[in-house]
Amino acid sequence: MILSNPETSLSPSGESFPLPVKADYNNELKRIEELVRQARSEHKEIVVVMGLGFVGAVMAAIVADTKDAAGKNTKFVIGCQRPSPRSFWKIPLINRGEAPVKAEDPEVDILIKRCVLDDKTLVATYNSDCLQFADCVVVDVQCDFAKKELGNMKSGEADMAALEDTMRTIGEKIQPNCLVLIETTVAPGTTEFVAWPILKKAFANRGINEIPLLAHSFERVMPGKQYVASIRDFWRVCSGCETVARARVEKFLHEVLNTKDFPLTVMDRPIESETTKIVENSYRATILAYLNEWSLFAERNGVDLIKVINAIKMRPTHSNMIFPGPGIGGYCLPKDGGLGYWALNY
Ligand SMILES: NC(=O)c1ccc[n+]([C@@H]2O[C@H](COP(=O)([O-])OP(=O)(O)OC[C@H]3O[C@@H](n4cnc5c(N)ncnc54)[C@H](O)[C@@H]3O)[C@@H](O)[C@H]2O)c1
Repeated sequence: MILSNPETSLSPSGESFPLPVKADYNNELKRIEELVRQARSEHKEIVVVMGLGFVGAVMAAIVADTKDAAGKNTKFVIGCQRPSPRSFWKIPLINRGEAPVKAEDPEVDILIKRCVLDDKTLVATYNSDCLQFADCVVVDVQCDFAKKELGNMKSGEADMAALEDTMRTIGEKIQPNCLVLIETTVAPGTTEFVAWPILKKAFANRGINEIPLLAHSFERVMPGKQYVASIRDFWRVCSGCETVARARVEKFLHEVLNTKDFPLTVMDRPIESETTKIVENSYRATILAYLNEWSLFAERNGVDLIKVINAIKMRPTHSNMIFPGPGIGGYCLPKDGGLGYWALNY
């Protein structure tokens, strides 16, 4: 087992990066400010992506790759990642033009390298003071579900500490007319009843009278062979807390995603788009679990389940029945139903 020094962050390939210290923050902000000044002089919109994980790192590159009809880059993206020993290494890797996520899709490496080194439309930082420069902030941090007992999802709780921290930081630093877009999968109601009040309170503390512009649009990314396309060339759902945020998020997503071929669904309230994500994933988890149960039955009783499914699929109404896999896995499917159940009581 490799024990990492708490003052450093170890990348998956074993490269060690010293964590920034207090004295580094000022120079880092100056570096970002200079890049923003240059981007503004080129009339680029400044977008900050909070959280450079599986979703945020690739979403940041897709936004940074946005071009107008004349083929000119229109966005400058600052990927902001907290400098924890577990995740800080993602920042120097991105700044070298290297993807912090390993993917089967070759476009991930190509896209990040092009945006960072050639087009210079993507940079990563640990200094969240960069939020003051943002026209738009995209939130891609995690929101977990903490299960208390094995086999009992009902006693578990949504763990949204990272999201709440991030919203507080955003509220303390953004300009009043900045659009904040939550992409994190959240328990239905979180955007309007948890995140929005945090932003409003932070604005009130700063003496800002404007209503924070908050929107929600969940990710459907699949980090496999079609990693980039599953974000850029895929159907999106979005919503805003009020009409201005709704119009702004619609415009933003039309600019950065291929909504011409994959139309955008705009919903009235964030609770609708949040619920869409949870129903979509819990539906998937349910049919996977259902077929997994029948595969156990088939194994014990010598039944060829594939033959059974093929016989059922002859009915047009059941033609999209899935084949059983080894069970429910990944990060999202096991937790998202729990987030939905938790929201029922809160
Ligand atoms: N991974 C997927 O395939 C997938 C698919 C669809 C939706 N989602 C959803 O997208 C969200 C993000 O998922 P992920 O897989 O990218 O998670 P992840 O854990 O890989 O990434 C989250 C990142 O956010 C960073 N972070 C946390 N707090 C921060 C803060 N205050 N400031 C800056 N950075 C901060 C973390 O350090 C981490 O690098 C989750 O809600 C997830 O359910 C994920």
